[in-house]
Amino acid sequence: MIHVKLEGHDYEYEIGELIKVFYNVDEFQFADEITNDRVGIINKLYYENEKKFSISSLYDKGKIIMEIKEEFNIEDRNPLKERKLVKQKLKLTLFELLAQYRKRRPKWGILTGIRPTKIVYELMNEGFTEEEIKNILKVQYRLNEEKIQLLINIVNIEKNLMNNKEDYVSIYIGIPFCPTKCLYCSFPSNSICKKNDKREAYIESLVYEIKEVSIILREGNKKIDTIYIGGGTPTSLTNDQLDKLFVTIKEELDLSEVREFTVEAGRPDTITIEKLETIKKHGIERISINPQTMNDPTLKLIKRDHTVEDIKSTYKLAKQIGFKTINMDLIIGLPNEGIDEFENTMKEMIKLDPENITVHTLAIKKSSILKANKEKYKLCHENSAEKMIELANKYCKKMGMSPYYMYRQKYMVGNLENIGYGKVNHECIYNIEIIEEKQTIIALGAGAVSKIYYPEENRLERVPNVTSLDHYINRTKEMVERKKKELLGKNMK
Ligand SMILES: C[S@@+](CC[C@H](N)C(=O)[O-])C[C@H]1O[C@@H](n2cnc3c(N)ncnc32)[C@H](O)[C@@H]1O
Ligand code: SF4
Repeated sequence: MIHVKLEGHDYEYEIGELIKVFYNVDEFQFADEITNDRVGIINKLYYENEKKFSISSLYDKGKIIMEIKEEFNIEDRNPLKERKLVKQKLKLTLFELLAQYRKRRPKWGILTGIRPTKIVYELMNEGFTEEEIKNILKVQYRLNEEKIQLLINIVNIEKNLMNNKEDYVSIYIGIPFCPTKCLYCSFPSNSICKKNDKREAYIESLVYEIKEVSIILREGNKKIDTIYIGGGTPTSLTNDQLDKLFVTIKEELDLSEVREFTVEAGRPDTITIEKLETIKKHGIERISINPQTMNDPTLKLIKRDHTVEDIKSTYKLAKQIGFKTINMDLIIGLPNEGIDEFENTMKEMIKLDPENITVHTLAIKKSSILKANKEKYKLCHENSAEKMIELANKYCKKMGMSPYYMYRQKYMVGNLENIGYGKVNHECIYNIEIIEEKQTIIALGAGAVSKIYYPEENRLERVPNVTSLDHYINRTKEMVERKKKELLGKNMK
């Protein structure tokens, strides 16, 4: 266990997040003193005359064995900017120290946040050119060339697709039902219980919430930009329930300006020809059919009740019905999968040739079955995960796709990222808007969290719905009141 001592500052969270890039959480702890019996790190901020210094020192058995020091000036007296610069410099010396000591340079440098594109937007807004931004990412954040280029490419696509006009919002509708719980999942999902099937009551509540939100939108003079029906697994609803949901949406909401309408069909074991025809009949052109992997033994292991053959036949059916855009979600680093298994998945993707592929890296989520039984499963090494990310990129490019949005999550294998790839004009605008946080998203259903954007303050206000199905069904009115209060009470921007 390594001890870490902070001197002259209290940025424990930020420093802890960076150390987690190099060590597991149970391999280090913060301490008041560095002792002679182990390896210790001191991360220190100090002032001399007008100058500031960030120093990171590595001790082994009480002796200093490595030290990285950086001097810096604070030119901008804005306290927020000053704090940001100080944190950045403290992380920089620590990063260099750990990179040398661990003989490994993580590709994301000192960036530990989940939305790295935000830094590019901030720098763009400050007037820096693309070349200057690349240089800042390299020198001040220590990103490697590959990740720098990824961010620049994504931002160049995203900026043409985002709609940041203040009177536009997106709508998310959550369907928190799934046939079974996948091993890695921590999303709100309720199994469909034959004796006590709550889907009908849920739809009734959703219909009510949609009608009320429609009134809120009219009063707030808001237009709808995109709609996303996600989950859970929306196609866990019956065909009639899906139909009722779409009829309500079309009757109650003004769809005249909607640029994109997505239904995340999700698991092939819930998709039928009738459901696909219902989705298509209502004019929805974008759906997801998610394999996660194209290897049958893994599908079984992760508790998805469908086979590779089911994925292929469902996909072909959806193509025959004529959907314009089909997205397929994959996960890198699933238990028992290495580079060969992942390459097989990508080869199968080439045969299907969808318009979108979203490549996730496995995250060991706190509330997942996987986390509770981690020792039972063989998980891949971070070096393999990096190679799989490169493979995904190579194969997606072969299919004519480019990366168009990305985000990172906590507890990800190898501290990597999730990347959405798309062919031109098939990118998912909703995904971009939710990640970049520059548009209000109004979220309906159990566990759905609305995010209200206030542009003048560049701030989001979260308005959560309750997660429990029963609470949502019994308290739908209260969920609507919460939205009204934030969206109308404070004069929605
Ligand atoms: C909200 S889930 C819903 C998708 C749909 N229910 C399905 O499973 O096909 C969206 C995507 O997140 C990804 N995902 C979920 N849990 C994950 C985890 N722990 N690590 C990495 N990716 C994950 C999966 O690729 C999944 O398709
Ligand atoms: S991954 Fe998808 S299908 Fe599996 S439990 Fe989570 S939401 Fe449901």
